[in-house]
Amino acid sequence: MLPVELRPHIYWVGVNDRTTQLFEGLWSIQEEGISYNSYLIDDEKKAIIDLSSKMTTDELVAQIRTVMDPAQLDYIVINHMEPDHSGALKALLLLAPQVVLLGTAKTQQMLERFYGITENVHVVSDGERLCLGEHSLRFVATPFVHWPETMMTYEESQHILFSCDGFGGYGALNGRIFDDDIQPLDWYEAQSLRYFVNIIATFSKPVRNAIAKLEGLPLDIVAPSHGLVWRKRPQHIIDLYRRWAAYATGPGDLSVTLIYASMYGNTEKMMEVIAQGILDQDVPLTVFNVATTPLSHILPALWTGHGVMVGAPTYEGGLFPPMAKTLEMAEIKHIYNKLAARFGSHAWNGGAQRRFEQMAETLKWQLTGNFEFSGAPSQDELLRGRQFGSELACQVRLALQNRGEIPRSVPLN
Ligand code: FEO
Repeated sequence: MLPVELRPHIYWVGVNDRTTQLFEGLWSIQEEGISYNSYLIDDEKKAIIDLSSKMTTDELVAQIRTVMDPAQLDYIVINHMEPDHSGALKALLLLAPQVVLLGTAKTQQMLERFYGITENVHVVSDGERLCLGEHSLRFVATPFVHWPETMMTYEESQHILFSCDGFGGYGALNGRIFDDDIQPLDWYEAQSLRYFVNIIATFSKPVRNAIAKLEGLPLDIVAPSHGLVWRKRPQHIIDLYRRWAAYATGPGDLSVTLIYASMYGNTEKMMEVIAQGILDQDVPLTVFNVATTPLSHILPALWTGHGVMVGAPTYEGGLFPPMAKTLEMAEIKHIYNKLAARFGSHAWNGGAQRRFEQMAETLKWQLTGNFEFSGAPSQDELLRGRQFGSELACQVRLALQNRGEIPRSVPLN
């Protein structure tokens, strides 16, 4: 895409990455892609805010050249050091050796460790201002949204928040960058949630702190480093992030995420009737085969739903490894405080349940039941399995009713 003017003399000069298959070497983006949004301010002093990955350096430099010669740059604002933002830095410094790098004290340390850069670094303090001419920048420390050095940059004349990873999302930009140019927004919102859960959710408290810190700041545009630029409804993406961060401590939605894996189809056969049982209670359900579905796509449902049904057989005396891996990632991402149950087949002896209970304790998941069967499920076991699914769904509904999250369907006398 060609550069896009956000406001006079303020340009999006980002690039799309449709090549990387695993973001952070971990998260599947092969179908969706991602954008690295850089922003250029062409004033008496010229500044670029955030860069791109090393692999997209040529595209970024071409974008800058469309607006100005990179040699004219006075400042590079480094909101965040993760290499998807800073990977192009060394190449850009060859074209603009005079440029001053702006970042937090931790950014200064990381510049040396990641790139051996020690010259022309100016450490900015929280709230510090920088006048570029008609435009002026204010730096807002937002540690751990996503790394400890992270900050956001606020342009005071146009009320633009360059929010870095905060309020960002997966998804390459398909010809348009603004929220008001996209209808409907569902796909980008889903990509933002997936990005939040994959990348930021562990740091939900810092996200809440950052949002609180931004209260009262006039915002006309929220311009993150990934995904859409929010011009029509800048508050909308902040509200979404606030809601998503609240799941870290609050209850989830009325829904059950059924994660399962099956070796020879016996646990899967049981899964089919348990799914029926959950839906019998009118509780929304999402089903994932954890052996074949990227973790990146499973985690958002786990994060937002209050109930988790785990279906996995015993494997060599323990929990089927794809499920163990899924639950380990849930722990890394602090997906806590769920209501959960497990079912699964074993061939000659159990063991999966014992391991699952250990993991559930670490996850602070409250267990409501266990349905173990040997070999293939009998017809009677399938009937009981349907009931088992209904029981978890009822427990989830009841728990949310007791907490006042959803109304009671039958008024109490
Ligand atoms: Fe967009 Fe924390 O990297």
